[in-house]
Amino acid sequence: MKVAIYTKYGSPEVIQIIDTKIPSPKPNEILVKIKASSVTRADTMMRQGKPKFGRLFLGLFKPKNTALGTGFSGVVEAVGSQITKFKIGDSVFGEKLFSNGSNAEYLCIAENVVIENKPRNISHIEAAPICDGFLTSYNFLKDIADLKPGQHILINGASGSLGSAAVQLAKVMGAKVTAVCSTRNIDFVKSIGADKIIDYTKTSITNINEMYNVIYDSVGTLSYKDTKNLISSNGIFMTPVLSGQILCQTLFNPKKVKFAATGIKKTEELKRLFLELVDFFKQGKLYTNIDKSYKLPDIAEAHHYLETGRKVGNIVIVNP
Ligand SMILES: NC(=O)c1ccc[n+]([C@@H]2O[C@H](COP(=O)([O-])OP(=O)(O)OC[C@H]3O[C@@H](n4cnc5c(N)ncnc54)[C@H](OP(=O)(O)O)[C@@H]3O)[C@@H](O)[C@H]2O)c1
Repeated sequence: MKVAIYTKYGSPEVIQIIDTKIPSPKPNEILVKIKASSVTRADTMMRQGKPKFGRLFLGLFKPKNTALGTGFSGVVEAVGSQITKFKIGDSVFGEKLFSNGSNAEYLCIAENVVIENKPRNISHIEAAPICDGFLTSYNFLKDIADLKPGQHILINGASGSLGSAAVQLAKVMGAKVTAVCSTRNIDFVKSIGADKIIDYTKTSITNINEMYNVIYDSVGTLSYKDTKNLISSNGIFMTPVLSGQILCQTLFNPKKVKFAATGIKKTEELKRLFLELVDFFKQGKLYTNIDKSYKLPDIAEAHHYLETGRKVGNIVIVNP
């Protein structure tokens, strides 16, 4: 089978497509023939080995785990002897977490992790990136912010993978949403449910006269310092993008400023959030926007596009 790997940190050109043996599932695993897989900002950061302190976990001089890709959707091709939940032919989707390896033609995964039957009303392409934007943003909105109906949330980066998921989730949770995006993305962000739009190319957020229960800076371009006057007394500023400044603010002001790396949350907790998301998708309440799709041999091109920071929603690798 073909699989995307990287054996050194660097530009998208370090990615190679190699041929390897199709893995055999262990007794507690299933073998999935991958139909679509996600390519995310986190993948590009791992490939670059950035931020550099991340190499303490990824490998000091070269990546310990050479596989790429976490989110996937596909069809069960074989099952281990202890498998009870899935059978051959089932359409499944989920997340490989830090073991990676979804940018490939096949993968093996245990049945008790973040994996579920794919809702019939969404395609493999729409299912593959759900664990990036939706799972991350649901963790922030539900577990970190405990967003309540009627609360007002400001979502910065509303056209991205995390931001577009957050706009939809906040609406499902009954909140009022003000979304921040550029002029070219206004129609898209309105179409996914934002109540109010701020075009950051025309209006500085610091100039607006409004109070929010939650500010979710999904792209890390705002700061708590510049927005604290917009946050209500019990409100919070939260971001999935780690920087030195955010690290300091979470240490000195932990009640107001929140950061979390969703991938390192306990698997049972991720699974709880994931299953709730699956229900929302089954009910047709959420929608995955696919900006572009690529074939596996063109994955370096996908990484180049990701690095522009301009994608709208998600990008995926699609296998024939
Ligand atoms: N902590 C975690 O668990 C976790 C998990 C997953 C991802 N992440 C991180 O979350 C971040 C966001 O990922 P993503 O995939 O959602 O990003 P993304 O899709 O690449 O975001 C790009 C979008 O943001 C818009 N944008 C760019 N500059 C902006 C600005 N100044 N203000 C508002 N919008 C702007 C772009 O459109 P325009 O250029 O037209 O504005 C584009 O649509 C990444 O840094 C990623 O590493 C963290």
